Amino acid sequence: MLLTMSGFRSVMDQLRAVFLEEGFSADQVIEAIGQSGQADLSRNHTFGAHVALEGRDDGLATLIRLFVLQASVPSSLAASLLPLQALQRLELVDTDGRTVRARVDIRPFDDQTDGTDGWVVSDHAASVDGHLDRSLPDHVLGVSPASVSLAQITDRRLVGSALDLGTGSGIQAIHLARHAGQVVATDLSRRALDLASLTFALNDLKVELCQGSLYEPVDQRSFDLICSNPPYVIAPPTKQRLVYREGAFEGDGLMQAVITGAAQRLNSGGSLHVVGNWAHCSGQDWAQRLSSWMPAGCQGFFVERERLDVFEYIEIWLADAGLIGQPDYQEQYQRWLDYFAALRIEAVGLGWLTMVKTGRPTRSRSQSWPFPVAQPVADDLMAHIQAMNWSDWSDEQMLAAHWTLADNVSQELIAPIGVADPQAVILRRHDGLARAIEADAALAGVLGACDGELSLESILVAVAQLLDLPAAELTTQVLDQVRKLVADTWLTPGVTKIDGRTGVEAELADTV
Ligand SMILES: C[S@@+](CC[C@H](N)C(=O)[O-])C[C@H]1O[C@@H](n2cnc3c(N)ncnc32)[C@H](O)[C@@H]1O
Repeated sequence: MLLTMSGFRSVMDQLRAVFLEEGFSADQVIEAIGQSGQADLSRNHTFGAHVALEGRDDGLATLIRLFVLQASVPSSLAASLLPLQALQRLELVDTDGRTVRARVDIRPFDDQTDGTDGWVVSDHAASVDGHLDRSLPDHVLGVSPASVSLAQITDRRLVGSALDLGTGSGIQAIHLARHAGQVVATDLSRRALDLASLTFALNDLKVELCQGSLYEPVDQRSFDLICSNPPYVIAPPTKQRLVYREGAFEGDGLMQAVITGAAQRLNSGGSLHVVGNWAHCSGQDWAQRLSSWMPAGCQGFFVERERLDVFEYIEIWLADAGLIGQPDYQEQYQRWLDYFAALRIEAVGLGWLTMVKTGRPTRSRSQSWPFPVAQPVADDLMAHIQAMNWSDWSDEQMLAAHWTLADNVSQELIAPIGVADPQAVILRRHDGLARAIEADAALAGVLGACDGELSLESILVAVAQLLDLPAAELTTQVLDQVRKLVADTWLTPGVTKIDGRTGVEAELADTV
């Protein structure tokens, strides 16, 4: 970068002004290139977008061709729109005199789940329109499905300080800047930090950038929230590892290091949110293995969204590296298989971790949940951590508590056509993990009465009378089901509404 800091800021201010003036926003780009063009882009092809833009030479079309489609545009058009010389000095564009090409991808985004929008600077995708190029070792990834997942599982309550570990393009830090007083973003890669600083300047955000591995650059500091989409791919060591996806650890050691290292850098009550891979090793229970990573005083919930056998996993990541059709493809495949065999890895899980430094006894829960969810799931994942403590209550505590059923539950009655009495009642959540359960009349009756007014014990007595059952029998029948529903966040004790969010009356929770 050959500009002073104030010169750099002024160029970024100009660029932002052009983007706003020309309508270079997520909505307007999709409107210009159409849904098919957008879908084509997500498959790393630009034909659909080019066809949609045919005949247009306005500012928005020029910005899309230049920064999104990796295409050359006439210098005269670019010069009438952009501060070209300054962008050349920042090494953001190249020109041969007649045409201009962008050296980076700049893409508008709009995340409707938390209302964050802006622009993200990253490297161009390595393989576009059928060119299967190898990725460069310091390639900086744009917004990927894993980036979007992490944004949706990260707790969005107001916090004093937040850390984005492995910031890459800076996408997580943009989200964090909306609800954290102070945001620190770290990365091992110099190029990632350079592009992230462009992202932050373009969005007019103040984010502190630090270079180094994992927690090294923030060793003496602590945060209210840490989020990370680390380089989690489990791959054999190579001389030229792809920094955006592979760490220098054996197996899934980098994921483990992110999790174990967080405890020391989290303030009390602080939370960690991570997306990543973990190994399924022969002869080892995966949940037990993950639970051994949980640091002292922390409680965590691992949600496995997908599990791939080793072949599918290797094929996906060899393709991602641009190795399809390369002479060494088979050799690389075999090396990977040998590596997995040596570590006894028989499958790889992809999922989320939400962890809170509660100061309570260390605990973790792991669940395979490959089903559709209602994003953003962050609140529900955090609620699962709180629920761990309530589901441990004694029977007496469970019966004395006044439970409230979650909002957003609907009931589906299953019966053959023309038959009045349902064979089954399905209760379905429309938020968070979008869980569903089949309930019999007793459980449905009990849950329907859980509005925080009466204790569970009183509800059981009333429902037992209605069903003409001894209360003790109904209690035995329902109590374990209720305990499981508490763990799965269907029921909370003494619920209050704070700013439209669900919170728990700590006093009640502590005294029951
Ligand atoms: C998968 S990308 C995630 C980028 C971005 N946070 C997102 O959500 O899209 C992983 C990032 O971690 C960085 N990284 C790799 N090894 C690291 C390490 N040991 N410590 C910190 N960051 C690292 C990479 O350079 C890359 O930018």
